[in-house]
Amino acid sequence: MFLQLLRQHIPHTLQRRATLIEHRKTTCICAQSLQYCDYGEPADVLQLVELDLSEPKDNEVLVRLLAAPINPSDINTIQGKYPVKLPLPAIAGNEGVGEVLRAGANVQKLKRGQRVVVIESALGTWRTHANFSEQQLLGIPNKLDLATAATMVVNPPTAYRMLKDFVPLAQGDCVIQNGANSAVGQIVHQLCKAWGLKSIGIVRNRPNLEELKTYLKLLGASEVLTEEELAQKDVANKLCKLPAPRLALNCVGGKNASDMAKLLAVKGVMVTYGGMSRKPVVIPTPALIFKNISFCGFWVTRWMREHKGKPTRDKMFAELIEMLDQGKLKGVKHEMVPLKDYKKAVSDALDLKGMV
Ligand SMILES: NC(=O)c1ccc[n+]([C@@H]2O[C@H](COP(=O)([O-])OP(=O)(O)OC[C@H]3O[C@@H](n4cnc5c(N)ncnc54)[C@H](OP(=O)(O)O)[C@@H]3O)[C@@H](O)[C@H]2O)c1
Repeated sequence: MFLQLLRQHIPHTLQRRATLIEHRKTTCICAQSLQYCDYGEPADVLQLVELDLSEPKDNEVLVRLLAAPINPSDINTIQGKYPVKLPLPAIAGNEGVGEVLRAGANVQKLKRGQRVVVIESALGTWRTHANFSEQQLLGIPNKLDLATAATMVVNPPTAYRMLKDFVPLAQGDCVIQNGANSAVGQIVHQLCKAWGLKSIGIVRNRPNLEELKTYLKLLGASEVLTEEELAQKDVANKLCKLPAPRLALNCVGGKNASDMAKLLAVKGVMVTYGGMSRKPVVIPTPALIFKNISFCGFWVTRWMREHKGKPTRDKMFAELIEMLDQGKLKGVKHEMVPLKDYKKAVSDALDLKGMV
């Protein structure tokens, strides 16, 4: 089903939880958190626990979290298969949106009622309340819808940086990507359209293929091919109206990545940011020798750490927020799942047995 193929699961609509017990013990809040004490399959190791939360310190902000997504990296972190290993017990979740309930005496910019997103990774967003330092949060317009806001810190910056940082792209240049219907892939097509770039999306075959192709073209894709169509010898003829891609974005690996590399222009670059097929990237020798193609990787977590407090990061978020606010950039289709149904949500979200 189309919606299922595109949907992204979001585990909390926390503010609507009728059962949410918010009470004060003098100044304490009882926060519900999805915690794990051992690495393992999320449905097995996650537990919903209640923890008392003290008043925010002078530099802290008490946030009521409203929604948080389940990303592939969240699953891998809980499985213990991600490069980020948290001390256990840990609270799951890397990004999310909330509202400020109270701000400490030294907090400069954030005020009660302000919507915020958690901008630093691994702080644990699958919970109802938390105290964060002001630097770990970014104020956003209150009118952004919850799902869009909850998913704006990982995937949109990933797409944005990969398009900006590896090859200088001019209007009319072309980008090719696999996993084109993924959350990142949908943002890539939309940014390409907004920035005057052509984009080719590669997807896996499926019964409702034409519907998916139409949807991705509406988002901004210039052409959408299946993995099988990409592998055909005459694929270059099929794409002859488009310039040879200067940038390839790979979140799949295996033969599909090799097939994309063959289409790259001379001195083109392939950026690998995921490995959904769990197969290694095999580089075709002629692409290296005769076209001088380069292969790189990208990890948004490192980029965010290295650009903490820097104007480049502020500029990127300002631009993304403006596009989201104006509806020029849409979040992915999703399903909101209450916190109490977390077992089903994590099982349904992804069926991943390896590193992605
Ligand atoms: N490096 C970074 O900084 C960074 C940042 C964000 C995301 N990521 C990575 O980017 C990838 C996409 O993330 P997302 O949140 O956008 O994912 P998502 O929305 O859950 O989409 C997953 C995508 O992977 C495809 N896929 C799954 N298994 C596949 C296989 N065996 N062969 C080919 N395609 C397959 C799916 O295609 P179907 O629809 O056909 O199932 C879908 O397009 C993940 O690997 C994630 O870890 C990396």
